[in-house]
Amino acid sequence: MIIDFQTAVKLIKKGDVVAFPTETVYGLGADANNIMAIKRTYELKGRPSDNPLIVHVSSISQAEDITRNLPDSFYKLAESFWPGPLTLIVEKDPSVPDIVTGGLSTVAVRMPNHPLALKLITQTGPLTAPSANKSGKPSPTKPEHLLQDYDDSLPILDGGNTTIGLESTILDLTSKKPEILRPGAISHVELSEALGEEILPFQEKKNHDSKPVKSPGTKYTHYKPDAEVKWIKKIPKSLENNALYVVYSQNEWPDVKNLISYKGNFSILAKDLYDIFRRADHLQYEKIYIEELPVLHEDTIIPALINRISKACTE
Ligand code: TXA
Ligand code: MG
Repeated sequence: MIIDFQTAVKLIKKGDVVAFPTETVYGLGADANNIMAIKRTYELKGRPSDNPLIVHVSSISQAEDITRNLPDSFYKLAESFWPGPLTLIVEKDPSVPDIVTGGLSTVAVRMPNHPLALKLITQTGPLTAPSANKSGKPSPTKPEHLLQDYDDSLPILDGGNTTIGLESTILDLTSKKPEILRPGAISHVELSEALGEEILPFQEKKNHDSKPVKSPGTKYTHYKPDAEVKWIKKIPKSLENNALYVVYSQNEWPDVKNLISYKGNFSILAKDLYDIFRRADHLQYEKIYIEELPVLHEDTIIPALINRISKACTE
């Protein structure tokens, strides 16, 4: 159900859950102090409650209220990238309910770069918000995706299509050296420049790694479309009819409905990716072939694309 701004504020204040837009993906927002509302978020999403939530703020002082011992690096990064697609893991204030952090002593904080989100949070106070998809679906990047996942009773603040399309970069500031836990639109190069120290690119961890998982969400199975997703080096001359092809190189591609060409525009591919996954299933394609991406770590969105697509490819 699409609702107006004032209704969204009212609903959140009375403990309801409201889907709202950010620049990355839609979030399922709840008052970060309301344990019942947060419980409802987990139920609605069908998400295990040991997987912590990001707290969304609209000011540094809100971030200071929910955290402790903020390091200098926090202020440097907030100054450079907030509002924006960067989530920072820092020490939590004891006042933050355990249900927000899955019992961890740290909390994930982010200031989203979306006028509606910022205005909303300014009026409601900090909001917990996981990506608004049902567990096992790709994150919603447009209101239609929310209508696919939920019945009409879910209140939705409509902000149109999200501009980035992949979830925020997560940077852990509580480890010895800041560590990227999830790649997103803010790259390790930009983070290194802002901090004046080298931040390593995100490293894909193997599932059988015996080290404890730092970002609990990464241990859960991720969305895989019903269609089988596969990287492909070279697009064959004759295309399979039951497969959707996603290509980026600048060749002359045949003008057919099962080939989508991005002509080197990785940001647009990122913006469309989850919609492509959903559409492929809707159109009952059996396979999605994605042209292997160049490993250009300098390009901000490529590691995030490789990460999300590789997850969709896993057995
Ligand atoms: O772009 C985004 O970040 C979107 C929008 C709505 O802001 N949100 C989002 O939330 O992607 P979610 O819940 O789908 O993913 C958050 C990730 C999860 O993998 C979770 O495990 C991790 O952040 N996380 C949350 N708190 C953490 C903490 N204290 N330490 C380590 N990882 C944490
Ligand atoms: Mg998510």
